[in-house]
Amino acid sequence: MTTWSGRRFSKMTTGTCVLGVAGGIAAAKASLLASMLVKSGFDVHVVMTRAACEFVAPLTFRTLTANPVSVDMFAEPGQWNVKHVSLAQAADLLVVAPATANFLGKVASGIADDLLTTTIMATRAPVVIAPAMNTRMYTNRIVQRNIEVLSASGYRFIGPESGRLACGDVGPGRMAEPERILEYTLHIHEGARRPSFEGRRVVVTAGPTREHLDPVRFLTNRSSGKMGYAIAGAAAARGAKVILVSGPVSLNVPEGCEVINVETACQMRDAVVSAASGADLVVAAAAVADYMPTNFSESKIKKSSGFGSLELERTPDIIAELGRAKGGRILVGFAAETDDLIANALRKLALKNLDMIVANKVGGADSPFGADRNTVTILRPERAPEALPPMSKLVLAHEILDRVSDI
Ligand code: PMT
Repeated sequence: MTTWSGRRFSKMTTGTCVLGVAGGIAAAKASLLASMLVKSGFDVHVVMTRAACEFVAPLTFRTLTANPVSVDMFAEPGQWNVKHVSLAQAADLLVVAPATANFLGKVASGIADDLLTTTIMATRAPVVIAPAMNTRMYTNRIVQRNIEVLSASGYRFIGPESGRLACGDVGPGRMAEPERILEYTLHIHEGARRPSFEGRRVVVTAGPTREHLDPVRFLTNRSSGKMGYAIAGAAAARGAKVILVSGPVSLNVPEGCEVINVETACQMRDAVVSAASGADLVVAAAAVADYMPTNFSESKIKKSSGFGSLELERTPDIIAELGRAKGGRILVGFAAETDDLIANALRKLALKNLDMIVANKVGGADSPFGADRNTVTILRPERAPEALPPMSKLVLAHEILDRVSDI
């Protein structure tokens, strides 16, 4: 899995984020999340429950966010007069991490008896909730019912993950990792101002393929999967049902996506053709190998046998196959080119019968492979090319989906 470098999302967004911290051992991890939200460009205001203060000192969050931390409903009014209302109104989004069984029960039942629950009740901003608790508490029917009630009311959940918990139990209940919460939060924040994908069924391809020569060698390319994963995460956050067909990458599966892992172009073709039968949008961001070895050697090929005569054949062109039997589906492709970017991309747009192609130039400082940012030109039939400024792949994913909504 990729680890937080601070670079991936840094300073790409602005807004006010209220981070609610309820009382659980995962409150310690919330300090990391607070720091990531700040690095991503948010003005972060932390609201803690009394119980949370038993686990982490408010000073930790005050230091990380450079803002006062609110705990008490009835503290002296400061910057945030009538605190729960002013915080709720100032927030562009709220994140509650960790959310305890007690917090979920209160909000689901309409109880607002502390600063955190009153702020949640008073806001119109999107709310992302990251539960964390003991497995037996999490699987308790009452907690599950409360999560269902809150989900149906528009609250967005991330996690919990399964694993070994602080109490020693093993099972679901561990708070999602801060980087995953951040990524999901950013998608929710970006998506909130854009057209919904509720009810749409989306297939996204991502990453490279591997075309095997023998048990130890394969042909591949430098795709990291970041672009495709960002599109899948964006579509899921905006309400779509997403199937992500992924080549081998080291990324977390975006929240809300079903992933089908494949290795070769042929496997990717089979998975995409099957998933696309029920889809209304297919976005092909994968860098599928164009050639595969004609023969696979069961034993490791010896140097002496001569790699010089490697025989290759074309892989199936997945998106072109879908283009030949298009039906009502929208097809979006990518073109990665070192030369004649626009001319080559336009040729692929027509050849593969696509509705849109995202052209990105390979080489130089802006090379898209493995990068966190991308600079692209969007090409659509009978429309002028639209060159977008450089931006993070996460924001670009939303820009691409906006243009899909416009088809
Ligand atoms: O993964 P990252 O590190 O984030 O990098 C992102 C990216 C550079 C891989 C991505 O932005 C991108 O450009 N993906 C497409 C790269 C590519 O293989 O382009 P192409 O020009 O070879 O293919 C054109 C289109 O046909 C693509 O949509 C591709 O997915 C599709 N294709 C290609 C070959 C094939 N056999 N089947 C296909 O479906």
